[in-house]
Amino acid sequence: MEAYLLDWANLLLRWLHVVVAIAWIGSSFYFVFLDNNLLAPTADDLKKKGVDGAMWAVHGGGFYNPQKYMVAPKGGIDSKLHWFYWESYSTWLSGFALFCVLYLWNASAFLVDRQVLDWSPAAAGLAAVAFLVGFWVVYDAICRVFGFRPNGERIVGALLIVVVAFSAWLACHLFSGRAAFLIVGAMLATAMSANVFFWIIPGQRKVVAAMTSGQPYDASALAIHGQRGKQRSVHNTYFTLPVVFAMLSNHYSFLYSHPQRWLVLCLMMLAGALIRQFFVQRHGWHHGRAANPWPYAAAGVLVLLGVMAWLRPAPAAVAAVPATVGYAQLRPMIEQRCQSCHGEAVQMKNLRFDSQAAVEQHAQQIFQQVVVTRAMPLSNATQMTDGERAMVARWFEAQAKR
Ligand code: HEC
Repeated sequence: MEAYLLDWANLLLRWLHVVVAIAWIGSSFYFVFLDNNLLAPTADDLKKKGVDGAMWAVHGGGFYNPQKYMVAPKGGIDSKLHWFYWESYSTWLSGFALFCVLYLWNASAFLVDRQVLDWSPAAAGLAAVAFLVGFWVVYDAICRVFGFRPNGERIVGALLIVVVAFSAWLACHLFSGRAAFLIVGAMLATAMSANVFFWIIPGQRKVVAAMTSGQPYDASALAIHGQRGKQRSVHNTYFTLPVVFAMLSNHYSFLYSHPQRWLVLCLMMLAGALIRQFFVQRHGWHHGRAANPWPYAAAGVLVLLGVMAWLRPAPAAVAAVPATVGYAQLRPMIEQRCQSCHGEAVQMKNLRFDSQAAVEQHAQQIFQQVVVTRAMPLSNATQMTDGERAMVARWFEAQAKR
């Protein structure tokens, strides 16, 4: 029953998480697009109002004419002011809840891989949370110290690449591959939400408070909030594709079971950031404000193709496997390698393999998990050998023919 309820919690939280993340990243993409397509107004009335840039768009049967003001329109805002933060907070909250249900609840199965590091599930759980907090502290310090120096953005960018690569390496040497990928993604995503929570929204609140106070205010003193907010928001833009990749990647065992998986993750996240740069620059390019973006797309795709070529499966070694394998030969192996998690006492994913009928009923899934993706036994906790996997393949051939 516990496994069943946990699966529901997992499903519902995942659903929520994906929906709110679409809302967040969608609005983030939209505002980047908007910023890059706004043109300085030529009409006098707009200039007088203090409009910094405007554009026209058509969508869903209506025409839209967004205008951007750097501080506020002269004369103030006369209707409801919409804020964008719940998309971000709810993405983080639902993501963290999902992480708790999936990884922390079953830390011994999902977080710890004894062949990577033999430590207690509690320590691993604490370390995972420390990754999320620790990265934010380091990243925030880097931005504070270097962010507004000459060439600050480049220094911040270079340092971030080093810190993220090191974190990926460290995570892959502490946690199971699957958890490590997720933790690195969650670490960047936490920084994204923290940027919104600690800098972007408080800065905007200060600006709005000054504007609506009725007191005269110094617009140039307020501009720092705008600059800081913009800086963090730009970082968030580059984090989006790497984060989404890291979140998806933990469903693909050929990525996270590779011996150099930390490098696989880094390269794929780099490809994501390069491709995001292409999209950002493409908007400005159309207006003659940015260089040709295509080299970034090409570089991103090349990295991606390089990883594909690197990870291609080696031709299977021909193991000495009997010509036919029946349930009788399979059974001791299943008992030894699977039943600790799929047996009478524990039934991960509601699966138990302690009868011939059950094993045969799930033949396709077993073949998929053990031979094709090698995702099972989870983190190879029960140390299944390649010879045994070849036996499963042979058994499955016979099953399929029946
Ligand atoms: C250390 C515990 C553990 C061991 C050992 C283990 N599994 Fe699993 N298995 C799990 C967990 C946890 C899940 C759920 C994975 C998930 O939700 O992504 C699972 C899921 C599965 C699934 C369903 C996958 C899906 O998403 O459809 C199959 C099939 C499976 N295991 C087969 C096996 C077989 C066959 C063995 C033995 C060779 C095995 N498992 C050994 C923990 C284990």
